Amino acid sequence: MSNFNLEEIEKKLEEEFKEIDSPNKLENLRLQYLGRKGILAQLTSGLAILPLEERRQKGQRINALKQKIETFLSAKEKELADISFSSGEKIDIGLPAVAQHFGGLHPIHQMIGEICKIFVNMGFKVVEGPEIETEYNNFTALNIALEHPCRDVFDTFYIKEETLNPSFKNSKEKFLLRSHTSPVQIRVMQTYKPPLAVVVPGKVYRPDAVDASHSFMFHQIEGFLVDKEVKFSDLKGILYNFACNVFGEKIKMRFRPHYFPFTEPSAEVDISCIICDGKGCSVCSKKGWLEVLGCGMIHPKVFKNVGYDPKEYKGFAFGMGVERIVMLKYGIDDIRLFFENDLRFLEQF
Ligand code: PHE
Repeated sequence: MSNFNLEEIEKKLEEEFKEIDSPNKLENLRLQYLGRKGILAQLTSGLAILPLEERRQKGQRINALKQKIETFLSAKEKELADISFSSGEKIDIGLPAVAQHFGGLHPIHQMIGEICKIFVNMGFKVVEGPEIETEYNNFTALNIALEHPCRDVFDTFYIKEETLNPSFKNSKEKFLLRSHTSPVQIRVMQTYKPPLAVVVPGKVYRPDAVDASHSFMFHQIEGFLVDKEVKFSDLKGILYNFACNVFGEKIKMRFRPHYFPFTEPSAEVDISCIICDGKGCSVCSKKGWLEVLGCGMIHPKVFKNVGYDPKEYKGFAFGMGVERIVMLKYGIDDIRLFFENDLRFLEQF
């Protein structure tokens, strides 16, 4: 093979290439030229006995030929693939398609959508706020006193200063993961003037140990309305309409006096148990009532903190836990099911 004629080999190759009309033939040709015992390997092995200069020259020519062959091969390969595709030869369209698995919205997401829609139909706007909040918006502006126990680190995830973005580091503010959606009341009222009717869906965080009814992250929907003439009976009417839409028109509703620092008067709202119709069962712990939300008339101090005149404006606010609403509506007894993402659970919604 030392007296090879590269031109001849190249010519022969070009002839042979024209004959190739199938991937099999192409593979055979590849082996014939580039295989371990192929023509090029033989040419290369013959180089060893040549004088240095000749060896160098022929070596380069062999390499050039090798590259040429490789370019040929891949072009032909593509050509053949295109032919088989466009002629439809290789595709069996009678084969059943792979079944597609359709995703769906998470039940919490669905409920947020459903609840927001009910309020939008009553004229409310949907607004969102950040999950990382200032201590001021989450507590101070909402009239939650410094010594109030819920400010304690055990009830709130404070953010360590060293983990903050450098641009926030010298801020006098403390940052935290919001423990309720009420700070968005502050943000909205600081930015807009009444009349306002807003609902705020979102995630909130509390350092609770996880069990069947607690999770360190859950969802709330806040609502508030501010105008010149707003009465507690307006709040009742709006909330009754909401509850009838979610739980059905048969339910009854009651307001129990309660305390929140940012509303006065404040109340907790129960609906008659949807499982036993108020007769008493295990879901309502024999009480016949289920607690669904907290609410009240916005405290004058909150208005002052956002620069509203409490003599001019009145308002109500309410807040509910979305997981709880979904659990009551569908008789789910473990909040952890919402976060485990087991399709057997999620697919039921
Ligand atoms: N923010 C309260 C909570 O998380 C709920 C609430 C909102 C109560 C608005 C009254 C008015 O418990």
